[in-house]
Amino acid sequence: MTSAETSDLTPAQQASLLTGGGFWETARAGDVAPIVLSDGPHGVRRQMQGTDHLGLHHSEPATCFPLAVAVGSSWSVEVAERVGTALARECRSLGVGVLLGPGVNIKRSPLGGRNFEYYSEDPVLTGVLAAAHVRGLQNGGVGASLKHFAANDQETDRMVISSDVDERTLREIYLAPFQHVVKNATPATVMCSYNKVNGVYASESRWLLNDVLRGDWGYEGVVVSDWGAVHDRVAALAAGLDLAMPGPGDRQTQAVLAAVEDGSIGLDQVDAAASRVTALSREYSNEPVEPFDVEQHHAIARELAADCAVLLKNDEGALPLSADSRLLVIGEFAESPRYQGGGSSHVNATQVDVPLEHIRAHASERNCEVRFERGFDTKRDDELQLRATAVAAAAEVDVDVAIVFAGNPDSEESEGYDRTRLELPSDQIALIREVAAAAPRTVVVLSNGGVVTLEGWHDEVDAVLEGFLRGQGGGAALADILFGVVNPSGHLAETIPLRLQDTPSYSTFPGEQGHVRYGEGVMVGYRHYETVDAAVRYPFGHGLSYTAFETRELVTVTTGPDTASVQVTVSNVGERRGKHVVQVYVGTEAGPVRRPVRTLGGFAKIDLDAGQTKVVSIDLDRSAFAYWDIERDGWVVASGVYEIQIGADASTVVARQHIDLRGDDLLPALSLQSSVGEWLSHPVAGPALGPLLSALLQQASDREDGSSAVAAQVAEAPVMPDVVRLMPMIQLVGVSGGAIDPNKLMALATQSVQTR
Ligand code: BGC
Repeated sequence: MTSAETSDLTPAQQASLLTGGGFWETARAGDVAPIVLSDGPHGVRRQMQGTDHLGLHHSEPATCFPLAVAVGSSWSVEVAERVGTALARECRSLGVGVLLGPGVNIKRSPLGGRNFEYYSEDPVLTGVLAAAHVRGLQNGGVGASLKHFAANDQETDRMVISSDVDERTLREIYLAPFQHVVKNATPATVMCSYNKVNGVYASESRWLLNDVLRGDWGYEGVVVSDWGAVHDRVAALAAGLDLAMPGPGDRQTQAVLAAVEDGSIGLDQVDAAASRVTALSREYSNEPVEPFDVEQHHAIARELAADCAVLLKNDEGALPLSADSRLLVIGEFAESPRYQGGGSSHVNATQVDVPLEHIRAHASERNCEVRFERGFDTKRDDELQLRATAVAAAAEVDVDVAIVFAGNPDSEESEGYDRTRLELPSDQIALIREVAAAAPRTVVVLSNGGVVTLEGWHDEVDAVLEGFLRGQGGGAALADILFGVVNPSGHLAETIPLRLQDTPSYSTFPGEQGHVRYGEGVMVGYRHYETVDAAVRYPFGHGLSYTAFETRELVTVTTGPDTASVQVTVSNVGERRGKHVVQVYVGTEAGPVRRPVRTLGGFAKIDLDAGQTKVVSIDLDRSAFAYWDIERDGWVVASGVYEIQIGADASTVVARQHIDLRGDDLLPALSLQSSVGEWLSHPVAGPALGPLLSALLQQASDREDGSSAVAAQVAEAPVMPDVVRLMPMIQLVGVSGGAIDPNKLMALATQSVQTR
């Protein structure tokens, strides 16, 4: 039987649709046109000649928008969606039907080589921003490819390693952003990753692709492989993978046909996968439309980048720069900015804003003087001379502020390998320290794809502006912030730790002997630091502004058994317009599993004029309260008390309120392995069991046949001793000398579930 989509196709044509027709396109079959897929995620890497998935060969000029690391720090749904909208226009004009992104893997370790392509260490922030990106892209007529599914959170051995993760951790942290985007934005495709998940290649994991993605989440789009992630085409098809990329793939098509022939795969499976690829080709088009407006898109890239930079430190109002400052700009990245990472996401930018030029432009409109010293050079080794000259310049009497542009060298941040250290290069640390000792004021501007530690120099400088990798308009955006033309409004989407050793995945990242064990479980990022109360340099959610905000009148109401609505009043009490992020966290001890001290439940970014006040409402749905219950194999909202917290960041709670949630109407499941205490405190089984148990135990002790010293003790004790309460019921059955019948107990357990 063939579906309507594929009714005109022969089985051979259907099978041919399941592997790419070329490096960047699907196959043509009958009247099904090839669809072009291109990287992604923050710019279009459209290759017309010379193909590769490592970002080596030429691609057509396109706008490099802020990278996910920067968009994550914007905490702005609007920024994420506008990136998607603009990308859609570029895809349409460059003949791309599906753009390979966004990436929603979690920053499990700050060393992750591709962290610049991912949003956050938090699944909620990641999921919400990625869904907005997908909406923008798909509303513009271009399909998204949500990647890399799943647990592809490092580059070391990424093509072979097994990410060994328990199911609760997978569901709550690593799958959660995928689930959010699938359910809320319906991405056209989902890209499976290279790695194995718990020993099975993602491309061959029936559990991941079929049971979770299609079954639990109801996904109906195309599952595409990462480039070269399919090892066994038939096994991958059986698991639920529709499209193996890249092509051409005659051998793979023949393997599929042979499997149909020998009955190891059904033609209906081939048809189902082919009809999804066909539907994709019918829905999206590669027909190039008119060229995008290069200047307009550059302006968008600049505007959006300004929302992303995070002002980490600003002592005594060092920033914004005052109008008559004499400035000494130092550092290679002021002149040759780092604005994107290496690998398949590398964009051939249409133009790049140079911070130094924009600083000069702002200065010339004011009464500022600007000088420049290179200070270091990531490609040369004469740094001692460069540093000495810069430090000497900083010590001169006519310098008011030194601005050091520091960051990670290009070569250290790329797809394909992880970083090996968390600090800035040692020559840059030395430069910052020496400049800070010489200049009256020192401002450090950072460019890096993953966070760096600030230890060894943070306390010596007056201000730190974390610019991350912010795309081609970021140089101008940074200058706008330095001069106060734009008020910084970014917040960290990732904790800045004091030391690598403090990071929760430290002892297991990046794994050994083919396995990486996610031993920290759900305690990822701030979930760990807050739960163990560990010191960090800057917490998740931290970010300063040139104005000040006041938060008050928190009102939380329950809107159902497992939902709530939060309302808070925010005022801009400073003298400038600015943007503020309301961060809502949830904490609870309800339920049988250990929860992080707090988890982000929702957030909103608002724009306030000086003196303005707004009331902000944020709805918290069931997912803000639920945990993954391995016994019930599902999400559970435990009934109990939940604390709703408004955080200035993940470790600074500025308002809190308790609510009671009825939660799920679930009774604890009982088995003979449950403790005696669990049996007795069970709301249905407990009352029925109590008298029965006492009577039986009394009988056992009356017999005085020595069968049960424990039973006698239990029967006589006024309060059940802990040693018995904590004992598995099966043990008590054993020592009761037959007085307690396990069959009767299990009948009672089953009956208790039915009675409620
Ligand atoms: C990367 C993907 C990318 C693909 C195509 C792979 O190596 O992991 O993110 O979309 O290549 O370039």
